[in-house]
Amino acid sequence: MTKKETATLTYNGNTYDLNVLNATMGPDVLDIRKLYADANVFTYDPGFTATASTTSKITYIDGGNGVLLYRGYPIEQLAEKGDFLETSYLLINGELPTHQQRKEFEKTITNHTMLHEQIFSFYKGFRRDAHPMAIMCGVVGALSAFYHDSIDINDEKQRKLATIRLIAKMPSIAAAAYKYSVGQPFMYPQNELSFAGNFLRMCFGVPTEEYKSNPILTRAMDRIFILHADHEQNASTSTVRLAGSSGANPFACIAAGIASLWGPAHGGANEAALAMLEEIGTPDRIPEYIERAKDKNDPFRLMGFGHRVYKNFDPRATLMQKTAHEVLGELGIKDDPLMETARELEQVALNDPYFIEKKLYPNIDFYSGITLRALGFPTSMFTVLFAVARTVGWVAQWEEMMEDPKQKIGRPRQLYTGPVTRDYVSASNR
Ligand code: SDX
Repeated sequence: MTKKETATLTYNGNTYDLNVLNATMGPDVLDIRKLYADANVFTYDPGFTATASTTSKITYIDGGNGVLLYRGYPIEQLAEKGDFLETSYLLINGELPTHQQRKEFEKTITNHTMLHEQIFSFYKGFRRDAHPMAIMCGVVGALSAFYHDSIDINDEKQRKLATIRLIAKMPSIAAAAYKYSVGQPFMYPQNELSFAGNFLRMCFGVPTEEYKSNPILTRAMDRIFILHADHEQNASTSTVRLAGSSGANPFACIAAGIASLWGPAHGGANEAALAMLEEIGTPDRIPEYIERAKDKNDPFRLMGFGHRVYKNFDPRATLMQKTAHEVLGELGIKDDPLMETARELEQVALNDPYFIEKKLYPNIDFYSGITLRALGFPTSMFTVLFAVARTVGWVAQWEEMMEDPKQKIGRPRQLYTGPVTRDYVSASNR
């Protein structure tokens, strides 16, 4: 980053020059790192709406124009022409793999998909109706108890091994959470299957018969993984970075990311969006819910709508809608009532002045639920699938931070508005 110019701040009768650091795309930043030492003042941005927490070369989002790039490649091109493992290689290494690199990467991932057999004991400690995200938080956090040869964050080889293990084992952990919830035996990975094909077989295959994979559905699953792989410094990625900044081991950091993703304002929105569509039911009830979404006294929000960054459209939502049509078409689900309600709700909201003025558009979570339900997943698994895909983004962002020689522990400050200093009052005088 070269300094383009400086910005001048006048405060308390003094003038401060702030360096401007230049972006290759998108907004430049004002470097305020010395502001507190020089001017004894903090900046204030509680939701980090205008704060860059790091530099990054991984993902670029232009919210105004609906642009999403992974290492410079548009998401539309990767989703159409690439696949999830190639995208994973790109996010981690910065370049698309050659044929040889791709073969080696795929072989390495494939050879790490099995779990230590004792990990399955954790599942039996959960109730069958435990939310699978609760299981994911627990089991992924416990991985550091099993893979001691990949928790030394100061050893680059161990960091790389942890990255491979997390990408490779998340589908096995997620599929086992689903199998446990339906009381079916766990399925082991099959090395000759693709990443998405292996995952679908581990979820929907049974030991009693050969699993018949459907290439259209497998391709749809793979594309859903691509769309969810990374997304700049969102809440769960920032959680992973903050956890990692203290030197926590990679498995603990990813478990923290899973916990943050679970929230309905974030990755939990796909589950909430489908529940909302089921609650609305038929299109004639849409106006009632649109009014509730606009009512400040009603906590109800249209789940799957709105985004901190996208103020025009979420390019992933467009691709998700296309995938939904492909999956429903392949499965012969012609008039899925929820799809009809979703389409109608989208049209009503997009033409409503409230949503136009607040720039609220469907996000990736609006159509993903319909697709995942059609693929056979219960709503409780939707955010788990998001976590399987986003693990690649999390480990890529974590590794980028760990490789940064200037990296230090994240420790925000505050605007204190509590009581000023006061003396202790004995109980008899209170
Ligand atoms: C993801 O950050 C990422 O990149 C996340 C993600 C990723 O890939 O990692 O893209 C994945 O999390 C997508 C977002 C999924 N969440 C939802 O669909 C939940 C519903 N959406 C909202 O909760 C909300 O839109 C957020 C959380 C997504 C964004 O919230 P912001 O940017 O903090 O905006 P806001 O809450 O301040 O809303 C601005 C205004 C408010 O009205 P005012 O207070 O200004 O009058 O818009 C209103 C909100 O009330 N609003 C909505 C709304 N979303 C915002 N009103 C009704 N329905 C909604 N969905």
